[in-house]
Amino acid sequence: MDLHILDHKLRVTSISKTGLQQYTHPLIKLIFLRNRTRCKFFSLTETPENYTVVLDEEGFKELQPSEHLQVEGSTWLPLNVVSNGNASSSSQAVGVTKIAKSVIAPLAEQHVSVFMLSTYQTDFILVREKDLSVVVGTLVEEFNIFREEGGESVPVHSQDACNGLQRNGREVPHATVHPVLIPKNQFCVMSLDPDTLPAIATTLIDVLFYSNSPKEGASVDQDMECIKFFSFSLIDGYVSLVMDTEAQRQFPADLLFTSSSGELWRMARIGGQPLGFDECGIVAQISQPLADSDISAYYISTFSFDHALVPEEDIVSVTEMLQAQRKDIPS
Ligand code: ARG
Repeated sequence: MDLHILDHKLRVTSISKTGLQQYTHPLIKLIFLRNRTRCKFFSLTETPENYTVVLDEEGFKELQPSEHLQVEGSTWLPLNVVSNGNASSSSQAVGVTKIAKSVIAPLAEQHVSVFMLSTYQTDFILVREKDLSVVVGTLVEEFNIFREEGGESVPVHSQDACNGLQRNGREVPHATVHPVLIPKNQFCVMSLDPDTLPAIATTLIDVLFYSNSPKEGASVDQDMECIKFFSFSLIDGYVSLVMDTEAQRQFPADLLFTSSSGELWRMARIGGQPLGFDECGIVAQISQPLADSDISAYYISTFSFDHALVPEEDIVSVTEMLQAQRKDIPS
């Protein structure tokens, strides 16, 4: 298996709900006007708390500092696992489940904090740039590691990595068990030919920027048990969308596509208080049991919370699994 350290230096930011108006102009440019920006990695996720924007330095330049923009202090690098076809794995699972044991758990054991971003196409594991040597040292046994530089893949050798790994604990640090919320909405994970972005522009603008304004004739009683969650990403020319079925109905059905099985997903949102960026082992704690049961999962970290998406038929067993985890840990 190959692991690529992608050639993007990322910032993790959040825009407050009330500050969104100040940022619609740059966001529209980053989403729709690809010829006007050199940004190659852009992801925007709306949650009830805020808008999380993860983007490269070129994109970050577009966001003017203000009291409405929070910026995590570090530079993050995206890692990406590429299985080279000969995968003899018996698992049919997709998403973070595939990399739970090979990447997520070993990094947590080495106390490396990650930030996950699953998309329709692949799963990005963001790590802090300053942790890179520990990351390489940890994963070099399992992977051929390449660093992408100016369009070329340069092999990374272990001697470039730090060898002072703490080999003592083979155990995932006993992270705090965070409260989990299971909203009622069903989600789909979709993609779109980037050339057809203009065709969905008005819908996307409506859903992203006006979803909180009540629509003409819309029923007033909001379902409190559903969560607002919408994610758009445009990364190296690939579009990925995660939305609930209600948002999906607003898009023209013929332009968005999903995997042939067309499955629906349910969400487990992890975190009661904002999770911060320094704690490690949260993704590991959720993805390990999923991997043990071979349950697919997409995993999207946002500025405040983490979100795991599992096939809807598995949500009951996943909920039970997470509850059992809660009981195991002495409080
Ligand atoms: N750092 C966590 C981990 O290593 C995941 C990210 C949680 N923080 C957040 N703001 N979403 O498991």
